[in-house]
Amino acid sequence: MTTVSSDGADSATDLRIRTAERADLLGIHRIEQAVFPQPWPFSALESYLGEAGFLVATTDADDGPRVVGYVIADTVPNHGTPLGHVKDLAVRPDHRREGVATALLKRALALLESVGAESAKLEVRADNEGARRLYRHFGFEHRKTIPNYYSNGEDALVMVRSLPNPT
Ligand SMILES: CC(C)(COP(=O)(O)OP(=O)(O)OC[C@H]1O[C@@H](n2cnc3c(N)ncnc32)[C@H](O)[C@@H]1OP(=O)(O)O)[C@@H](O)C(=O)NCCC(=O)NCCS
Repeated sequence: MTTVSSDGADSATDLRIRTAERADLLGIHRIEQAVFPQPWPFSALESYLGEAGFLVATTDADDGPRVVGYVIADTVPNHGTPLGHVKDLAVRPDHRREGVATALLKRALALLESVGAESAKLEVRADNEGARRLYRHFGFEHRKTIPNYYSNGEDALVMVRSLPNPT
């Protein structure tokens, strides 16, 4: 079991959050394909290499560090103020409920704030109760619903929060 300190990088544990590197891409792509019905293609993941908001969580395995989760966040222009956008987030099934997504999101939101974003948004499948609960813990609120957002016809909930969170 991995435990995580409040900043997601406790030296007493082996969980590390850092910027994604090319060598991480295969591991990231494997997780992406395993957990999403419509995974991003490898090239889409690759296109975010070098972005500050492309972060991986790693733990130590027998053969070296292993990617156990990742987040991709960036900003989009919004009437002169950048709006943060959490575009992708996933954790390996065998490392869930250990605080990995929490550590990744904390770091990503801090990064968005540091580049001037005053709020952050994300889309989540309406039936993804676990993710919605995680986001609610982070202060994200359901702002609107986009019908038929996903190719299987499922709706997306758009969730938004301020940076920093006022609560
Ligand atoms: C959603 C996801 C990223 C959560 O990752 P995680 O590392 O397990 O999340 P954390 O351990 O940081 O969870 C923090 C809190 O969020 C809530 N939560 C997370 N997953 C949950 C689940 N499956 N069911 C209910 N609550 C959940 C809980 O309140 C949890 O705290 P607790 O474990 O103390 O009860 C992970 O389940 C995942 O990769 N799912 C598939 C991909 C996905 O849906 N990504 C989000 C797309 S919008």
